Amino acid sequence: MVAFPTETVYGLGADASNPAAVAKIFAAKGRPQDHPVIVHLGGIELLPLWAGEIPAAARKLAAAFWPGPLTLILKRAAGASDSVTGGQDTVGVRIPGHPVALELLRAFAGEEGGRVFSGVAAPSANRFGRISPTTAAHVRAELGAAVDCVLDGGACGVGIESTIVDLSRGRAVLLRPGEITPAQIAAVLGAEVDLPDAAAPRVSGALASHYAPRTPLYLVAAAELPARLAGLRGKRLAVLARAAAPPGLKDVSWQTAPRAAAGYAHELYASLRRLDDLSCDAILVEAPPSAPEWQGVNDRLRRASSN
Ligand code: TXA
Ligand code: MG
Repeated sequence: MVAFPTETVYGLGADASNPAAVAKIFAAKGRPQDHPVIVHLGGIELLPLWAGEIPAAARKLAAAFWPGPLTLILKRAAGASDSVTGGQDTVGVRIPGHPVALELLRAFAGEEGGRVFSGVAAPSANRFGRISPTTAAHVRAELGAAVDCVLDGGACGVGIESTIVDLSRGRAVLLRPGEITPAQIAAVLGAEVDLPDAAAPRVSGALASHYAPRTPLYLVAAAELPARLAGLRGKRLAVLARAAAPPGLKDVSWQTAPRAAAGYAHELYASLRRLDDLSCDAILVEAPPSAPEWQGVNDRLRRASSN
């Protein structure tokens, strides 16, 4: 097992062809064994080892966005075992856009002793249900002695997990929003991106209480923030807001977030960890705008929130 930086968040990696190695990741995270995990590749030439069908849409999106923060769900190849697919007929794959990740993946790929090494299975390097790590120190704090090796690549640029698009059923379906927006994907495909229906595959990130800090977190519309703060007087509060703290505010740990979506996403998980570590009674987050470029951030905040 090796924890490594990607452009989105840190991953906890192991040989994707080795079910015993993949099982170690799940044990370290405390994650249910039947959840599928993304296979990370160092190059597009490795894709046929994992995906049994590579539709034209996948080629287009790979050419446009890989290496980068996009995961494609494709029909699995025979070599993709249940340990990475969670027993489904599909596999999640991506080529990450981070120099350390790419170097690791390229060094790992090859043949030795008659065995082929080609992909690294890696969920985010956090305990199951918790906030993804965006620094090596976060990984240490999350997983401690459970992981021997953490490659330190500094703070992750994007800061939230990859956009996930399912291409396994003849159309493009958005399973998880991220930095790459549905509009960007639609522009490349020349076709709309759908939202998942009830028959969509299981995505652990789609569980209601995912990406959550320990402290109860409430998403509050900007205009309602003063009244909510007044209503909670006497409690120990933390606030994450793009606005500056109002003058004269007492006993509130106020964290100012970047105005733009990319900067906000980049700092989001580190800020939530910092506020969570204060052990306040509640974290109030001023709801960001609802414009398309905020979709990934808003999705994570909704999942982290208790309201
Ligand atoms: O940015 C990312 O994607 C990071 C970095 C490390 O690459 N990884 C990540 O992995 O977020 P994880 O395991 O925390 O989230 C991956 C999500 C899970 O919700 C999983 O259920 C879903 O992808 N997934 C993986 N394979 C799938 C499949 N075959 N079908 C449907 N969902 C799948
Ligand atoms: Mg995760």
